[in-house]
Amino acid sequence: MQTNNDPIIEVRSLCKRVKDATGELTILEDVTLDVSPGSSVAIVGASGSGKSTLLGLLAGLDNATSGSVRLFGRELTGLSEDERASLRSGAVGFVFQSFQLMPHLTALENVRLPLELQGGTSEHEATQRAHALLGQVGLAARTGHYPKLLSGGEQQRVALARAFATHPVVLFADEPTGSLDAATGRAVIDLMFEMNAAHGATLVLVTHDIELARRCTRSVTLDAGRIVHP
Ligand SMILES: Nc1ncnc2c1ncn2[C@@H]1O[C@H](COP(=O)(O)OP(=O)(O)OP(=O)(O)O)[C@@H](O)[C@H]1O
Ligand SMILES: [Mg+2]
Repeated sequence: MQTNNDPIIEVRSLCKRVKDATGELTILEDVTLDVSPGSSVAIVGASGSGKSTLLGLLAGLDNATSGSVRLFGRELTGLSEDERASLRSGAVGFVFQSFQLMPHLTALENVRLPLELQGGTSEHEATQRAHALLGQVGLAARTGHYPKLLSGGEQQRVALARAFATHPVVLFADEPTGSLDAATGRAVIDLMFEMNAAHGATLVLVTHDIELARRCTRSVTLDAGRIVHP
């Protein structure tokens, strides 16, 4: 049984290897990590060190070669794709490096979508919440825009608003401030920590942003697929 103080994510000896033209490539090697509920963790390291791969494994979007990941006390490795999706549903928010917005939906509709999929929220309330979140990321004047009419940084902010729509227990974000100028980046960081404080959302953030890493409870550094212990 999961109790309040148990880690929300427990990673043990996680390895990810893929086959490539020259043989086998090790992307992650023996990664062990606990994430406490309500904490904020920055995953840092050079390009190609395995950060995005680790994030995908923690969120149950990808399969490990060996080792284990427990999310909310449930072992992910034994679960089917559908079981993992239902475990994530509403409880997990994502912001990917590619924003993966729905091209045929407006910004407002993109943010509202997870609430509609989850059910239980009236259309009026979903619309209100989507407007409020888009306002918080500085896009009040862009709610009717389709993704292709938005700049990269604007799309990134829509993706963040969408990730927070269901008040997720955990937010996984890959470079959430990567395409933003300093001022907008700060507003996005503030929003993430506001969600952390107001709703106890656990933040797991891949970032090159020193200011963002500094505001997290702790940083985990990857080097060539391994955690570097200082
Ligand atoms: N499916 C795959 N097949 C082969 N190689 C892969 C695969 N996925 C990732 N890699 C390789 O694994 C390494 C780690 O990739 P990953 O995307 O996790 O890096 P990253 O730390 O997120 O880098 P960045 O900061 O540039 O986003 C890279 O060298 C990448 O080329
Ligand atoms: Mg990456």
